[in-house]
Amino acid sequence: MVSGNQATTLKNIASNGMKSSSLRVLAVSSGKGGVGKTNIVANLAYLISKQNKKVLVVDADLGLNNIDILLGLYPKFHIGDVLSGEKTVQDIIIKGPADISLLPAGGGLQELTQLDDEKKILLMEELDRVSDGYDFLIFDTGAGISTNVTYFCSAAHEILLVATAEPTSLTDVYALIKTLYIKHSQKYFRMIINSVDSEREAQLIFRNLAAVTDRFLPNVSIEYLGYIVSDSSVTKAVRQQKAFSEIYPYAKVTQCVKKLAQKMIAEKRSEVDEEQPSLFWRTAFTAR
Ligand SMILES: Nc1ncnc2c1ncn2[C@@H]1O[C@H](COP(=O)(O)OP(=O)(O)OP(=O)(O)O)[C@@H](O)[C@H]1O
Ligand SMILES: [Mg+2]
Repeated sequence: MVSGNQATTLKNIASNGMKSSSLRVLAVSSGKGGVGKTNIVANLAYLISKQNKKVLVVDADLGLNNIDILLGLYPKFHIGDVLSGEKTVQDIIIKGPADISLLPAGGGLQELTQLDDEKKILLMEELDRVSDGYDFLIFDTGAGISTNVTYFCSAAHEILLVATAEPTSLTDVYALIKTLYIKHSQKYFRMIINSVDSEREAQLIFRNLAAVTDRFLPNVSIEYLGYIVSDSSVTKAVRQQKAFSEIYPYAKVTQCVKKLAQKMIAEKRSEVDEEQPSLFWRTAFTAR
């Protein structure tokens, strides 16, 4: 339960959020693990940042550091140090390629995998404090329907879900959509279909998923955001601990993520969430 004091804090955070109207908060999530979320976040952040936008990436797969390793960064501190009160968010932000800012998650810390309400509030307050001046804040969440995942998704303006052609990836993403709708009142989802051979294949996968959600969750709206081809440049870049878009700027996979980045930059926040009741952080707190 949220206490009276906590509720006041939440309201303050929500109203601060309303002021920072240009900031877009995205959560990138999936039902099944290993479908490419962290690679998408790292490269989307890199390519958005190259267009002179300020991006803060939050490794929200807490307790399992991911994105720092993917980018060959070696942070000294992590979100656990903020939650223990030893550091502020500002103290632990590190810089990645193209000057992206990154909040590391901290590896091997089981206590972070299920944050309690107090810790969630503390983290959001801290993020709220540093969010001024950023154009995009991107949460790279874990996979599945754990409370951390649903929490970060509910806290964002936009939920970007990643799926591949694998049947388990599609059934699991449907389960996540259903949980976010039923338990957290989230109705709007944007889909990225990863590791396909062509856009045609991605659209077919999307249409099949949309047919199921239209039938069983008629109040939910899912939108096709884009596709990413399967490309060996991804695994090569992962092995070199670099963003593929940095070292393979002409690879097909980079062109796909570039399209997504351009689309995100071209949109105004009002276009993407004018119908949504979720103002910065608010739904995370009303969804309990
Ligand atoms: N478009 C792609 N083409 C080829 N391989 C890919 C592609 N996208 C992802 N992969 C492969 O999938 C692996 C997992 O990617 P990534 O770590 O980004 O997934 P994730 O969804 O963040 O995983 P987790 O759920 O564990 O956080 C990569 O190391 C890479 O080998
Ligand atoms: Mg990941």
